[in-house]
Amino acid sequence: MSRLVYVLNGPNLNLLGRRQPHIYGHETLADIERECRALAAELKLELRFHQSNREYEIIDWIHQARDAAGAIVINPAAFTHTSVAILDALNTFDPPVIEVHISNVHKREAFRHHSFVSTRADGVIAGFGTQGYLLALRRVATLIEDKAG
Ligand code: DQA
Repeated sequence: MSRLVYVLNGPNLNLLGRRQPHIYGHETLADIERECRALAAELKLELRFHQSNREYEIIDWIHQARDAAGAIVINPAAFTHTSVAILDALNTFDPPVIEVHISNVHKREAFRHHSFVSTRADGVIAGFGTQGYLLALRRVATLIEDKAG
């Protein structure tokens, strides 16, 4: 089982740190990437870390991951609630998928309560702030080891 993990981030997450900090906190996406890389080194995972505001780019990365990755960690941001296309792409990917949300989407507006991606995800983390990414990587390392063992 490949130890390569794609960490994919959807629209507006490039503005983390400046975007509604009372909801998403003060950390930037670069901070999150740095923390993810430090933990990945500890867990002996290799990372591809990407963000896009364009749905098709996220779909293309999922397609790339099909040939190479042992897991995907994805914060689809607003595409969570709208994108059948991202769900369809994830449904072509067999290894573990973990969905991450910085905020607790269930505590927010009703339109955030439905996630297309959750119908595919093996696990969902919401409301743990940016720490959710690190928890997702720990889970992924466990799942990859379980499959290897
Ligand atoms: C988010 C929650 C989504 O509802 C929202 O559209 C985002 C970020 C989160 O990380 O909490 O952009 O995925």
